[in-house]
Amino acid sequence: MLKTRIAVLVSGGGTNLQALIDAQKAGTLHSGEIVLVVSGVEGAYALTRAENVGIPTAVCSRKVLGSQEAFEATICRELDAAGAELIVLAGFMSILSADFTKKYENRIINIHPSLIPSFCGQGFYGLRVHEAALDYGVKVTGATVHFVNEIPDGGKIILQKAVEVQPGDTPEVLQRRVMEQAEWVLLPQAAELVSAEIAAGKGE
Ligand code: GAR
Repeated sequence: MLKTRIAVLVSGGGTNLQALIDAQKAGTLHSGEIVLVVSGVEGAYALTRAENVGIPTAVCSRKVLGSQEAFEATICRELDAAGAELIVLAGFMSILSADFTKKYENRIINIHPSLIPSFCGQGFYGLRVHEAALDYGVKVTGATVHFVNEIPDGGKIILQKAVEVQPGDTPEVLQRRVMEQAEWVLLPQAAELVSAEIAAGKGE
């Protein structure tokens, strides 16, 4: 079976990208292959993680490119050139327009560090999600992998995993636990699931 060509979009440290790379190496992600990493931020450490294992990289900065249109057009060119069939948002901090998400319907997945529909949508990203969960006082949080549509964090849920909040948690401590217990497990699983579906659709 032909592997699904995966592009991973990142903005930061890239620990979720690393989980995907490790899963590919371990063979648990075997229906897809990471062929490109695109960073929305110049100098993001995620780029180094990709370079370390020989995955081609590109930088598409919304700031540098000036407009949402130019930003998305540049990303599309990179995705087309790489023949990407599945786009994985792994800590990608830019919102994508409805035009973009429509073009790749059911072909973009995102990891979000809470149990959607809690603590999600516009303004909820990174550490802020965990700050909000702690402020609210929830006893259980977690992570969600979902398809990306025009509503921020609003697409169909693929996988979710719960993680307990512990007394005395700081946002940083909670973030780390959610990553270790949920994100780094779920994202490779979801990438494999969707890659397998796309690969099956292509036939032999
Ligand atoms: C992860 O916790 C991811 O779930 C979150 O940003 C972090 C990126 O870390 N994404 C969002 O908040 C998206 N709304 P990483 O760069 O180490 O993978």
